[in-house]
Amino acid sequence: APDQRLSGKHILVTAGPTHEPIDPVRYVANRSSGKQGFAIADACAQLGARVTLVSGPVALPTPAGVTRVDVETAREMADAVGAALPADVAVMVAAVADWRVEAAGQKLKKGAGAPALSLVPNPDILADLGASPHRPRLLVGFAAETERVLDHAAAKRAAKRADWIVANDVSGDVMGGEANTVHLVTETGVESWPHAPKAVVARRLAQRIADAL
Ligand code: C5P
Repeated sequence: APDQRLSGKHILVTAGPTHEPIDPVRYVANRSSGKQGFAIADACAQLGARVTLVSGPVALPTPAGVTRVDVETAREMADAVGAALPADVAVMVAAVADWRVEAAGQKLKKGAGAPALSLVPNPDILADLGASPHRPRLLVGFAAETERVLDHAAAKRAAKRADWIVANDVSGDVMGGEANTVHLVTETGVESWPHAPKAVVARRLAQRIADAL
């Protein structure tokens, strides 16, 4: 029989980038294909979990058995995460834009010269969940870093009150690629996992989640 160790659990996953409009036709965004988050949603569903996947704009099919909520901006993502609670586990994989633009209501015209973009901070969805009375029992964040990966991940784990941080070394060709090199940072230390396809990283994380519950 297939392993259904996550049956009866609700797992919330965020994935993809957010798009923050500049005007009705332009946006700023983070780089993210959504592949790692979608693979994690898939792996959790395959272990029997009820999975809500809150996704920014990506070009990926919905994994079988997963409930998908599509959003565009960070604020929409924060609202969708709030609406999906309660959850036993949240895995925040999305590359959320840290700032949004004070958007223009009409298309900016090129002839008017290069506009100055005024940026305002977006909500930190992971940190807000870490401090929330509805905090999931197991809260997992991601940290995409290009240097001092483990230091930054440990700092992030504390600052955001996450249980685990999956530290992602994005100095290579991870972005949009099929494989990933990650380190799992927990309360007890750091585990470095071998470079592997994103689906393999996802299955390993889903197994670790099942072990922890
Ligand atoms: O601070 P930084 O963006 O590097 O943290 C990354 C982690 O925080 C990821 O898990 C990401 O999904 C989450 N995050 C978030 N909301 C933000 C920024 C990051 O949930 N506004």
